[in-house]
Amino acid sequence: MKILVINGPNLNLLGEREPNIYGGDTLDSINAELRDKAEKMGHELSFFQSNSEGALIDALHASRLDCAGAIFNAGAYTHYSYALRDAISAIKIPVVEVHLSNVNSRDEFRKTSVIAPVCIGSIAGFGKYSYHLALDALDNRLRSAGENK
Ligand code: DQA
Repeated sequence: MKILVINGPNLNLLGEREPNIYGGDTLDSINAELRDKAEKMGHELSFFQSNSEGALIDALHASRLDCAGAIFNAGAYTHYSYALRDAISAIKIPVVEVHLSNVNSRDEFRKTSVIAPVCIGSIAGFGKYSYHLALDALDNRLRSAGENK
C-alpha cells in the first residue's frame, strides 16, 4: 500500500538542528531507512516536507486520493494548528502522529497536541525510531482493516 510520510517546519534541518534533542541523522537518511523497511513490508512510501502550513494541508488533501495512510511529524504546528487538525480530520485516511523527542518532557507548550485527537495514535520520544514504530502501527492498522472488509 502507498503511505505518505510528511514532515513539517524545521525538520529539513535534522542532522544540524539541536542534535542533542533530535539526533544526528538527516531527514534524507531517516527517510531512506524507512523506505527500506516499508519495502520489506510491501508498502511504498512517498515523502513530503514543508515549512509552510498551507503546503502541508495541500499534501494531506492530495494523499486522500492515492494513499492508504500517513505518518506525520507536524513539528511546532502540532501544538497550535487547527487548520492541520481539520485537514487530518477531513481526509479520513489513518494518520499517525510522530515526534522524535519526548514532547511531554520538554516545554509546557509542547505538551499540547491539537492534532492528536484526530490521529489514530501518537508516538514520541524514540528519535528516528519513532518513525519506524509509526510505520509498524500503521501497517498493523491497514492489515486489520483489510481483514475486516
Ligand atoms: C518535534 C517536536 C516539536 O515540539 C518541535 O516543534 C519540532 C519537532 C519532534 O519531532 O520532536 O519541530 O515535532
